[in-house]
Amino acid sequence: MKIDEVRSKYLRFFEKRKHIIIESAPLILKDDPSTLFTSSGMQPLLPYFLGKKHMGGARLANSQKCFRAEDIEEIGDNRHTTFFEMLGNWSFGDYFKKEQIEWLFEFLTNEVKLNPEKLYITVFAGDKKSGIPRDIESVKIWKNIFEKKDIKIKDQEILNEENGGKIGMRGGRIFYYDAKYNWWSRNGAPDKMPQDEPGGPDSEVFYDFGEYIHNKKFGEHCHPNCECGRFMEIGNSVFMEYIKQKDGSFGRLPAKNVDFGGGLERITAASNDDNDIFNIDIISSIIKKIEEISGRIYADNKKEFRIITDHIRASVFIIASGITPSNTKQGYILRRLIRRAIRFSDKLDISQGHLSDISKIAISQYNKIYPKLNENKEKIVEEINKEEKKFRKTIKKGLIEFEKISGKENISGDNAFILFTTYGFPIEMTIELAEEKNLSVDKNEFDKKMKEHKELSRIGAEQKFKGGLIDAGEMSVKYHTATHLLLRALKDTLGEGVRQKGSNITQERLRLDFSWEKKMTDEQKQKVEDLINEKIKSAIDVTKEEMPIEEAKKQNIVGEFEDKYGDIVTVYRIGNYSIELCGGPHIRNTAELGYFKIKKEESVSSGIRRIKAVLE
Ligand code: ALA
Repeated sequence: MKIDEVRSKYLRFFEKRKHIIIESAPLILKDDPSTLFTSSGMQPLLPYFLGKKHMGGARLANSQKCFRAEDIEEIGDNRHTTFFEMLGNWSFGDYFKKEQIEWLFEFLTNEVKLNPEKLYITVFAGDKKSGIPRDIESVKIWKNIFEKKDIKIKDQEILNEENGGKIGMRGGRIFYYDAKYNWWSRNGAPDKMPQDEPGGPDSEVFYDFGEYIHNKKFGEHCHPNCECGRFMEIGNSVFMEYIKQKDGSFGRLPAKNVDFGGGLERITAASNDDNDIFNIDIISSIIKKIEEISGRIYADNKKEFRIITDHIRASVFIIASGITPSNTKQGYILRRLIRRAIRFSDKLDISQGHLSDISKIAISQYNKIYPKLNENKEKIVEEINKEEKKFRKTIKKGLIEFEKISGKENISGDNAFILFTTYGFPIEMTIELAEEKNLSVDKNEFDKKMKEHKELSRIGAEQKFKGGLIDAGEMSVKYHTATHLLLRALKDTLGEGVRQKGSNITQERLRLDFSWEKKMTDEQKQKVEDLINEKIKSAIDVTKEEMPIEEAKKQNIVGEFEDKYGDIVTVYRIGNYSIELCGGPHIRNTAELGYFKIKKEESVSSGIRRIKAVLE
């Protein structure tokens, strides 16, 4: 099957079971400072697990764009990607274990047509320390389902990291594992959760790609959570009914909820019975492009191909979310991705300028479902090229320097610091290079040096800008909100017929293309500036709300969709002034914007004008 087919089958399946399909939330959640990227489908829905009512009701489903930075250095095997889509369905106090498990099995076997003989199940073994009992109920439900398919179920083994590899599966199909494996919260196991965090036992489905894959390096025997690659987790049903309390014990959430997440790419791989997720349609077209550019074959260079493919695909989505490479937060993660992709493309002798060709394949492959990528194509290509140019200048010399300092010695913090400041090697890259030679890096000393360095440069920057430093990402968010104001002010000045035709934001300026025949007069430009500066002065709150797409159409709300499916969309309002359909992010109040100034008004093509403007 193709990825688009699996996604749409899933959404239709749950729609038929009375779920409202919601849009994918943006990859970067402005309202959630606890995390840099959306990394699971439930994250944007947190308030609804805690008791808030969702306007779509108690049953929701979607396919959520996710990014997991903690996996960057892991990429290279058959099943991990940093960016992925998570198929999700949720029940907020509506259905629970029975419906969830039965529907999931029905979807996987009837819609995706997976052979039930190849599905293996894990269930929560209970946790004495936190007083949460073993999930006997889920086992009963699974047992019943398999027996209806004439698949016999033995008594359950209790497996964990140690005994799994020793005793193996012994013909079992359903296995109990401890909280390390079968408990889910945003922070992991029960003892890792902070106060007021929701979580619960989960039940995972694994697909068996075949016994022959097992490698004894990972243990004498194989079992579902073995790392050899034979089994791939394709779905996780979390039964969210607990909340961590002040005294460390667990209380109950207002309702029993279901939080399901399944990797779209992995389910697609299982549908093709091919355990390399880089072989699924969308991803393999990127691989083919790399073969074409490098003249090498994927089968002979799997690690390098997978790293380049994964990192460029992820970078495309991150740049389309408004992030550019930098040394902080999301910008730093993006920098690491691009620079790591460069290091591995070097190994394939791919020369400068080709990474952006690879990005174009990712953009075109996803265009049907995520039009935002194509809208930002120019910017994505430009940012990747810029970062590549920068790093290519120093990487060769940096690698020579690394060879010099890394003879037999571990890498000192001082040297790691020089590699970063002089050659642009992110610390994670230095650690990875060191590990390839079985060496370590003094990360503590490096961190100390970095802290001193940051303090020094902050003092410098404060003197330079007086007002202090603004994070690069923050500036783009401001320009994004200013773009909404500008579109509204243009309509007020030139007429309601004005339409947005394109937009491009950098840390330095905004650029808006709009439909208009003539050169704007000085008076018109002045009026637009005045209108916007007046709104900035009035300190208007920017608010976000969700509404059914039909409602948005009825109200004639303009703007871009986050993606091309979904019954519920996100709308941003700047007071009563501007209303646009938009995934965000935006600032909270117009007072944060400063002073708006148009720098240029020019023609782009017939009937389309372009404004470049800055915030001072
Ligand atoms: N939130 C669960 C996960 O990410 C479904 O695995």
